[in-house]
Amino acid sequence: MIVSPSLLSCDFGNIQRDVEMLNNSKAPWIHIDVMDGVFVPNISFGFPVLQAVRKCTTKILDVHLMIQHADPYLEEFKKAGADILTVHYEASVHLHRTVQAIKQLGMRPGVAINPHTPVSVLQPILTDLDIVLVMSVNPGFGGQQFIPETIQKVHDLKQLAEERNPNLIIEVDGGVNLGNASLLAYAGASALVAGSFVFNSENPVQTIEDLSLVS
Ligand code: DX5
Ligand code: ZN
Repeated sequence: MIVSPSLLSCDFGNIQRDVEMLNNSKAPWIHIDVMDGVFVPNISFGFPVLQAVRKCTTKILDVHLMIQHADPYLEEFKKAGADILTVHYEASVHLHRTVQAIKQLGMRPGVAINPHTPVSVLQPILTDLDIVLVMSVNPGFGGQQFIPETIQKVHDLKQLAEERNPNLIIEVDGGVNLGNASLLAYAGASALVAGSFVFNSENPVQTIEDLSLVS
């Protein structure tokens, strides 16, 4: 299981210390939540923070854009150090074009879907994607409760992916913990984002390892 700890839950007064903790953990990815106050009712951080994190780690930076207008900024995200760039289906008018642009810039493309969005809308574009990020909370905040219907969506997406893109990574984001991780793995998830569960735990390195062993 790929674990992608979400920096949204780190101590912003000690970002470098927390990234170093992640460097010493089994997490191959670091999840970076960018929010614009338009697509979601919250504002997080942008390029300077991403650049600073990039300087502290060689881990894969898994950047989740919760912004209404991503297209003008794709190149800047690449320059700031994004390896994976995920845009929201609900915020993308020309999703195919956006995904191609992300690939052309040398990043791995992901598409995120909100809890109310069915996985079937991604069918025509599934072969172009490396990652689908299934939101298991309404995006905007860390520390929310997991929406259980997500498990069925992951299962449905896994079936769709087996036909069209067997290498697709199904990533789940929001309210992930050791209580739901194995259900998600069984349904077909191969990457889990975890923010508060990791950073609020007594031993985050151990919590990451526990999540990584889920099957
Ligand atoms: C929510 C973000 C998540 C968030 C997850 O909008 O996309 O990545 O950091 O936090 P937890 O794991 O606390 O739900
Ligand atoms: Zn996220």
